[in-house]
Amino acid sequence: MAAPDLERRSKEEMRLLDLGGHVGFDSLPDQLVSKSVSQGFSFNILCVGETGIGKSTLMNTLFNTIFETEESGHYEACVRLRPRTYDLQESNVHLKLTIVDAVGFGDQINKDERPIVDYIDTQFENYLQEELKIQRSLFDYHDTRIHVCLYFITPTGHSLKSLDLVTMKKLDSKVNIIPIIAKADTISKSELHKFKNKIMNELDKNGVQIYQFPTDDEAVAEINAVMNAHLPFAVVGSTDEIKVGNKLVRARQYPWGIVQVENESHCDFVKLREMLIRVNMEDLREQTHNRHYELYRRHKLEEMGFQDTAAESKPISLQETYETRRKEFLCELQKKEEEMRQMFVNKVKETELELKEKEKELHERFETLKRTHQEEKRKVEEKRRQLEDEKIAFNRRKAAVEAMQAQALQVTSQQPLRRDKDKKKTSGWSSIYSVTIS
Ligand code: GTP
Ligand code: MG
Repeated sequence: MAAPDLERRSKEEMRLLDLGGHVGFDSLPDQLVSKSVSQGFSFNILCVGETGIGKSTLMNTLFNTIFETEESGHYEACVRLRPRTYDLQESNVHLKLTIVDAVGFGDQINKDERPIVDYIDTQFENYLQEELKIQRSLFDYHDTRIHVCLYFITPTGHSLKSLDLVTMKKLDSKVNIIPIIAKADTISKSELHKFKNKIMNELDKNGVQIYQFPTDDEAVAEINAVMNAHLPFAVVGSTDEIKVGNKLVRARQYPWGIVQVENESHCDFVKLREMLIRVNMEDLREQTHNRHYELYRRHKLEEMGFQDTAAESKPISLQETYETRRKEFLCELQKKEEEMRQMFVNKVKETELELKEKEKELHERFETLKRTHQEEKRKVEEKRRQLEDEKIAFNRRKAAVEAMQAQALQVTSQQPLRRDKDKKKTSGWSSIYSVTIS
């Protein structure tokens, strides 16, 4: 049966009945309220604005308390997000308030809004992971998703800086942005009016979507519509109490007068507090969940390959998507495995070839060495033979010389006799001679 038919049938089947008496389910809203109250609420504010613009002072003024803070230096290497969570109680309502400071924003030469975007995404991701768990504990989960970003505009009276536009543009699809002009006591009334118009025009021209107070709920439609026209709120913060008349009021005192924080003719602080805390806190929480988180979740699930409808708008269940993805994954895995196997085989072949080449080279070297060795051996053998011959010849000569020597010796041993005879002959002569001479 086609989907529209089903819808029509179920509508037809739904009949309005009158109750015979009080049943009690009219207490459902009260049950909801008491459950929510016992559970407590969480609200997370992101403060973005340059160092020393008055973020901490405004938070203290808004919640009428002193949150722990420390001044940030102007020399942070990059923008750092510093969350701090506080437990607040008003009447019997518990509020887990987290204030996240974008420390170092606007100070860097490399003006990077990425850490802020990443922080917001991380909180969405944490929530999504909790949702996807088999055993979810969303009931007592500390929701850290940013519900509102208070964007502090420097009161130059001139125009928005490009950093403001770029940052707000990057954030507007992820968080509810409420722009505020900080330290509004430093700007004159006529300048402020022009400045506000200029800011709104610039935001509009650059397609920056800021949070609009909702006008669909009759109870608050009128006030919200009026307040939308006052954006951006020009605020002054102070926790100092000064006596005005016979009343102590929170104000900033100057040599020329007093700026009262809660005086609507002095600044828009009251408007901000009304809109942010007293009227639209729940809408900000809802918008965060239904709009910004929903967008993040959709993109994330689509990225993971999930979809609601297949081709020709045919509804596709999670199970079907899972099966398809599983098959795709297995196919891919098989393909990868085959590729790896082929790669391995190729590598083995390559190595085998290399080894064969090496073996051939070695063999050739061995053959050359063998040849050289044989040659050397042959030469040595020849030399040895030569030496042998020489030795034989030498021995022969030696024997000949020895024989000659022996002969000579023999001759010499026979010679004294003859010499004696000769001597006698000679001495005869010498005596004749000596006689003659004398
Ligand atoms: P970091 O956290 O260090 O970035 O500063 P911050 O933005 O939290 O500013 P902080 O609230 O510490 O205020 C810085 C200075 O500005 C202090 O001297 C405040 O008194 C002053 N200041 C805060 N709000 C206002 C305001 O509305 N008007 C004026 N004129 N000064 C303000
Ligand atoms: Mg601060």
